[in-house]
Amino acid sequence: MNKATVTEIRKQFEKALEEVRDTAALEALKHGYLGRKGIIAGLFARIREVPPESRKETGELLNSLKTDLSAAIDARSMQFAVPRKQKEITDFSMPGYAMHHGSRHPLTQAVDDMLNIFQHLGFDIAYGPEVEIDWYNFESLNFPPDHPARDMQDTFYTEGGGVLRTHTSPVQTRYMSTHKPPVRIVAPGRVFRNEAISARSYCLFHQIEGLYIDEGITFADLKGTIELFCRLYYGKDVRIKFRGSYFPFTEPSAEIDVSCFLCGGKGCPVCKQSGWLEIMGCGMVDPNVLKAVNYDSERYSGYAFGLGIERMLMMRLGINDIRILFENDVEFLKQF
Ligand code: PHE
Repeated sequence: MNKATVTEIRKQFEKALEEVRDTAALEALKHGYLGRKGIIAGLFARIREVPPESRKETGELLNSLKTDLSAAIDARSMQFAVPRKQKEITDFSMPGYAMHHGSRHPLTQAVDDMLNIFQHLGFDIAYGPEVEIDWYNFESLNFPPDHPARDMQDTFYTEGGGVLRTHTSPVQTRYMSTHKPPVRIVAPGRVFRNEAISARSYCLFHQIEGLYIDEGITFADLKGTIELFCRLYYGKDVRIKFRGSYFPFTEPSAEIDVSCFLCGGKGCPVCKQSGWLEIMGCGMVDPNVLKAVNYDSERYSGYAFGLGIERMLMMRLGINDIRILFENDVEFLKQF
């Protein structure tokens, strides 16, 4: 074996490689030359025949032949692999992989949209704690001691004598206790009521409280603000209606209905054929509430309102079971 043998084998290999048409043939070629019993291994075995003085040179020659051959085989195998891969990724009829985005909960979206409107109307945002003391939740809001809302059946009491707030109205007196008039705030948050859980009521829900106190504020200001809010939130064609009502902390008090946006007031299952949907309670802040926070009730007056978010959202989305808003079912939430 000599240099010429190696050159000859290299030539044979190159010719054979050119004729290779597929991966199987390439594998066979590789096995024939580079395998454990292949041609190259055979040459290495014959190195003993070479005179000692040129063994080193022949060894180097064989080593570089081996390296070149395996590099050539690898390069060729890439040529087979590439077209196949390209064919796979250029199948434009393949459906793509869906990317799942998280999104804000529909309740959060509704609250954000409403707060945004009130901020444009000049309201600040205030927050209060979910665990309240009786004074803010009831006493300061002019609840008589025997008012049914204080009943264990409606209110969750904590061991230390606190209450889980049953509405966002305690934020009114909390805020007024630490701020001088004028005040103009909206207060979003969770409220809790110990009611039997059903399609229509849940042990917790969300409200937005509104409060505006200044000199000379009248029911007309309340009406104008609510009307504007409803138009901005529901669209300019919405009609609203004030219905006389009662709350201990407002006098006079009203509940507000908006014309059903699904049927436009004609009557449908969502509005129970009445054409109207109730969305909030409101009224002029009772002077007793102003006195409880040491405001001069002769000088100052104002209005308050409390919006039920779940109700508004259920009507808007045509949902008939409130529990779906709290279950975090991904199939439901994915729609938003
Ligand atoms: N707090 C009342 C409720 O939860 C709503 C309300 C707020 C009414 C402010 C009047 C004024 O039902």
